[in-house]
Amino acid sequence: MKNILITGGAGFIGSHVVRLFVNKYPDYNIINLDALTYAGNLKNLTDIENASNYTFVKADICDEKIIDNIFSEYNIDAVIHLAAESHVDRSIKDPLSFAKTNVIGTLNLLQAAKSNWNGDFKNNLFYHVSTDEVYGSLTDQGFFTEKTPYDPHSPYSASKASSDHFVRAFFDTYRLPIVISNCSNNYGSYQFPEKLIPLFINNICNNKPLPVYGKGENVRDWLFVNDHARAIDVIFHKGKLGDTYNIGGFNEWKNIDLIKVLIKTADRLLGREEGASESLITYVTDRAGHDYRYAIDSSKLKDELGWEPSLQFEEGIEKTVKWYLENTDWVENIVNGDYQKYYSEMYENR
Ligand code: NAD
Ligand code: TYD
Repeated sequence: MKNILITGGAGFIGSHVVRLFVNKYPDYNIINLDALTYAGNLKNLTDIENASNYTFVKADICDEKIIDNIFSEYNIDAVIHLAAESHVDRSIKDPLSFAKTNVIGTLNLLQAAKSNWNGDFKNNLFYHVSTDEVYGSLTDQGFFTEKTPYDPHSPYSASKASSDHFVRAFFDTYRLPIVISNCSNNYGSYQFPEKLIPLFINNICNNKPLPVYGKGENVRDWLFVNDHARAIDVIFHKGKLGDTYNIGGFNEWKNIDLIKVLIKTADRLLGREEGASESLITYVTDRAGHDYRYAIDSSKLKDELGWEPSLQFEEGIEKTVKWYLENTDWVENIVNGDYQKYYSEMYENR
């Protein structure tokens, strides 16, 4: 495989995957296809934008004709598909755009792969990047395994579940070579500040309220984004066709406990008195249909492909908070007029 189409490469996780592949595999041509929605930002990739094995193409995955042309123009051998609408709160306000991009966009890419790869599918791969949220919500017991039945609750997770089913259907029906991974919550640099961790770091810096949904007792399983990118690299090269791999760090945190770690770390790095920013914690109306707990069992990926997370959470959080404090230009570039409008619409009446 030489010509690899990475969709959503200007987003949070996609930019880390593009960077890893461009730097690690000089023999691959990496074609980054992204529509540059509010979440896409080419400033995430300035360090590799002039690399000779890197090309950026601005396009919408829902556009049948353009996607088909891109497959033939760049002679695409393999796809790593990350482009998606990705924020649960936005999906509650506008489910249709999630169905369009996540379901129809994925189906459109599958069709283009199937018709351009000429039937024998030798040296081809369609890698679909998905989420643990398709499995639904856990009680205090147990973990999601690859065999857990799908039970999505939010429009976001329902759209991702649907896209996963289409990807598997193309394997079962047409033998299109596919692999899927379902990962837990990611954190790290270049994450859009609508998601919990970058939003809260930014609000701590600016002494703004920290809007904790419900009682802050929901549990998420956090993985450093570079470790997700490493897992995608391993699965892309060694994953078994037709298989699913769960990715996670066995690193569960109650939201309120995680928020206290963020506050402690940020206060220290900002030279404030320890815990000074705890007064910013503000309990607000819970998210509708808020999944209680996510926890991934990633032992299949470890046992079969040898992947393990490289970082302890404390180290990852320290790096992450530092990155946002040192890259205020990047944050300020995003926290513009549209973002302010989104923020007041999302949080004014909570
Ligand atoms: P993101 O919102 O930061 O980035 C999404 C990217 O997709 C953006 O660059 C955006 O411009 C692009 N995009 C959106 N619609 C498009 C369209 N119609 N055509 C082309 N490009 C389009 O998302 P992320 O957090 O980086 O997530 C990437 C993928 O990983 C998604 O598929 C998501 O479901 C999955 N995932 C995310 C997490 C997480 O914690 N963030 C965890 C597990 C899985
Ligand atoms: P988020 O980063 O949106 O990821 P996801 O919903 O995909 O897990 O949210 C992580 C957790 O933090 C989730 O339980 C919702 C909660 N949360 C808040 O309490 N306040 C906020 O402002 C946000 C954005 C999230």
